[in-house]
Amino acid sequence: MKVTERLDKILAHAGFGTRREIKEQVKRGQVTVNGKIVKDSGLQVKPALDSILVDGERVEYREHVYLMLHKPPGYVSATEDTRDRTVLELLGEEYAHFDLFPVGRLDKDTEGLLLLTNDGKLAHQLLSPRKHVPKLYYAEVSGFVTEEDRVAFQQGVELDDGYRTLPAELIIEQAEQPESGKLSRIRLTLHEGKFHQVKRMFQSVGKKVVYLKRLSMGSLELDESLKPGEYRELTELEMEGLRTS
Ligand code: URA
Repeated sequence: MKVTERLDKILAHAGFGTRREIKEQVKRGQVTVNGKIVKDSGLQVKPALDSILVDGERVEYREHVYLMLHKPPGYVSATEDTRDRTVLELLGEEYAHFDLFPVGRLDKDTEGLLLLTNDGKLAHQLLSPRKHVPKLYYAEVSGFVTEEDRVAFQQGVELDDGYRTLPAELIIEQAEQPESGKLSRIRLTLHEGKFHQVKRMFQSVGKKVVYLKRLSMGSLELDESLKPGEYRELTELEMEGLRTS
């Protein structure tokens, strides 16, 4: 955030309407800066220091927003899509003007932790391949998941495009023979994020992921009190953890 910023930009960011609407409000004398009515919506102000009021209501300016979403199935991790509903459509009006985007992608049918922000720097840091930020998934798999799979994932497996995966930690919670009609249950920690990676890793050992949910990303854990489709802002503690992830 710059030290000084245009008044209309600050008010638009804080949800007071479009620049045109704000210009009108300013003209009508509804906006004060440090107690004085201002008439120029392009005025340069210091959002961190100046006291800005609209109709007597104090404007809380913040540049960045960080939301934890429990992504439900059926939504794509994108800001726009011509065919499918996007995760942004799950958010309330109050977040509409923040230009939020999902940090990384979960498949349309994948559930669980998705971070939404407008902080490009933090997103870049979390997604950087060099950082190897761990991501923990829970999956239900059709096929008997074995100790050999655990060792193979630890050593790296070759995906359908020839890519060799980085070491990943597989925990077998429950292995079931497919004939039983039940699914095996596992947890898998990845340190990278290739397209459809969990599904393709199981495919490489002849098994099929039928349910997938992300439980954590770096230090950020899915708040299980959030139902699919629900979201909340991150706490200070969660923010601190992410910054040092
Ligand atoms: N791996 C997958 O296969 N899908 C996801 O959505 C995330 C990781």
